[in-house]
Amino acid sequence: MNPIAVNKEKCIGCGLCVKDCPSTYLHIEDGVAQTSTGGCLECGHCYAICPQGAITMTNYDCTEEAVVPMTEISADTLLAAMKSRRTVRQFTDQAVEPEKVEKILEAGRYSPTGGNSQNVMYTILGSKQAEAEEICVELFRKGTSLPSHFKAFSERFNITDDFFFKGAPLVILVSSRSSVDAGLASSYMELMAESLGLGVLYSGFFVMCTRFSRKLHKLINLPKGHKAVTCMVIGYPAVKYHRIVPRKPLQSKTL
Ligand SMILES: Cc1cc2nc3c(=O)[nH]c(=O)nc-3n(C[C@H](O)[C@H](O)[C@H](O)COP(=O)(O)O)c2cc1C
Repeated sequence: MNPIAVNKEKCIGCGLCVKDCPSTYLHIEDGVAQTSTGGCLECGHCYAICPQGAITMTNYDCTEEAVVPMTEISADTLLAAMKSRRTVRQFTDQAVEPEKVEKILEAGRYSPTGGNSQNVMYTILGSKQAEAEEICVELFRKGTSLPSHFKAFSERFNITDDFFFKGAPLVILVSSRSSVDAGLASSYMELMAESLGLGVLYSGFFVMCTRFSRKLHKLINLPKGHKAVTCMVIGYPAVKYHRIVPRKPLQSKTL
């Protein structure tokens, strides 16, 4: 089925869709937009840009939602909030409300993906969270299945029973075939979580365990070809930070 449908009655042949299409899927013929065969990313630029509402995406529910430009968020406030975020490693017992979980997942779902693959999976550990953490704690304490450089690393830490998830109520494993796609989705999700008053820890150690424990691999059961990219440990912070932490000087050059 053609992923893009043009309503010929509504189309005024302005060509904005043709110009903005990242491939060559659209062209103007007989004064209206026409689609070709193949090559459509289903990115929706034609749908979004059409001033007449003449385009629909046939594989999606095209309920019109008004655009909110990022410029509505003050750049200074956004930058200051980004600088103020901290990794949170101490959480209260308060559960994360389902509406907030939904918003965090929605932020991930709307992040950009290479070729518009949208192939990112969000695995909430839920009822398996405690079991997953136990497997990791055992792996790190034994260290036998870890490569030597990780083993040395794990020996530097006190592997407590809550070492990986710090008693947080929500853990979301973000996986994909592409580390970039999953990483970007995670970043969107983190900012959303923080704007909801939540704190986030990226548990890189947990991601490491997914590579070295067959038991864990089976438990999390990721889609074929996916690798765990981030593990987002989320909850209400039990700590408050009073100042922005300084950073190394910017590394940047113009060629
Ligand atoms: C990919 C990634 C993996 C991380 N893994 C862990 C982890 O396993 N345990 C931990 O305590 N912190 C982890 N962190 C947090 C970093 O240590 C933290 O971002 C860094 O020290 C800077 O602190 P800040 O986030 O508060 O600015 C991770 C961060 C990233 C981006």
